[in-house]
Amino acid sequence: MNQLKKKGYMMVRLNKDEDDMLNGKYGKGTQTAMKIQVAIAEAFDAPYMVPISKAHVALSNQEADLWFVEKLVSQGAKCRVRPTVNPSFNWKQMKKITTLAQEDEEIVKRTDRAYRKIGALMTYDCTPYLQLNVPKVNEVIAYSESSATPFVNSIYGAKTNRESAQSALCAAVTGVVPYYGYLDKKNRKGQVLVNVLAEMKSDFDFQLLGYVTPLKVGFKIPVFNFKNKIDKKLFSNASLMNLGAQMNTSGNVAIYHILGVTPEAKTFEDAFQSENVPEIINITQADLDSVRDKISAPLGKIDFALFGCPHLTFEQIESVVDIISGKKLAVPLFIMSSDPTRRLCEQMGLLKIIRDAGGEIISNTCMDQPCWKFLYGKKGVTDSPKCAYYTRRRKMEFVITDLENAAYSALKGEVTDDY
Ligand code: F3S
Repeated sequence: MNQLKKKGYMMVRLNKDEDDMLNGKYGKGTQTAMKIQVAIAEAFDAPYMVPISKAHVALSNQEADLWFVEKLVSQGAKCRVRPTVNPSFNWKQMKKITTLAQEDEEIVKRTDRAYRKIGALMTYDCTPYLQLNVPKVNEVIAYSESSATPFVNSIYGAKTNRESAQSALCAAVTGVVPYYGYLDKKNRKGQVLVNVLAEMKSDFDFQLLGYVTPLKVGFKIPVFNFKNKIDKKLFSNASLMNLGAQMNTSGNVAIYHILGVTPEAKTFEDAFQSENVPEIINITQADLDSVRDKISAPLGKIDFALFGCPHLTFEQIESVVDIISGKKLAVPLFIMSSDPTRRLCEQMGLLKIIRDAGGEIISNTCMDQPCWKFLYGKKGVTDSPKCAYYTRRRKMEFVITDLENAAYSALKGEVTDDY
């Protein structure tokens, strides 16, 4: 029996297999991962563990991330549930664009080797929920990554806590997670009704709505109620991924509901699990406009355009191609997307159009990586507040505007609001 349990310190109940993992029967690496899972269970008073069927690890390609995965690998850990992983940077592609520092290339290669060895699927994509790792309703999973966790909880009705890269990796190794938080239906109920009075016209409005919401409601679970009639097509994958990504940039929101749209919010009663609405707030067009003014660099000349935080979908890339097709870009355009989407773009002729205009689709790459050093100190345009937020520490500056205007801006070399 485990020493902690013997001394009465451990409250979580483990089955035989879980107990064996904790006692080292499956090797030191699995034991370390299980110890961490048990510590999380104890911290959250979880009564037992539950099996997972999917995992996504927000690999960051930074020192702490590498240290942890290499430690597990050196102890012989192997994933029971193979996780997909977040982007780092595509060194082969980036080498054609810039000169990489040797230490940056070394860390990305070591990270790749370690995650491969532990049994991860090297998808390098921050939108795994759109392809390759798509859960079903009520499926218990372990997802890290800021746009992924809210998307799988809210849109699919799958069940995950807001895992860190490390806890998601431990879940992948052990195949279980502690039962607490958002795995329990009662913790998934709406905590504040958010009446959206702003006119929602494009997926960019969902970026701003996502950024504003936690600033107004804190970390409560929002239930969005769109007061103006919205074309159902606007609830696209792009809009919903943007909404979640931005809520986890200005805040920390693992699940949200949209009345009449998401599976756990068919009615008010469903969404709040009661007839009572605990709190109501309004979000207006002025709220969206003022947050954009606050987080965006001033309009004007730009040096480059960077889209795809989170990775652009095929449809989003198509909308950019419609604008730049047959023209020449005034500044370099980098579009980040998943490898399957890039391949599809190549097959459909979109990649050629982008290249002919002077742009490129970069796969497997995140904008918060050292491969973009050649853009430090410069000013770009993006459609993503998250992109602008994270790159501040890298001394990059961004004008934030909708994707269409951002594409026109890349053609002009300047961002204006009258396109
Ligand atoms: Fe994806 Fe990196 Fe942005 S993981 S969401 S491109 S910060």
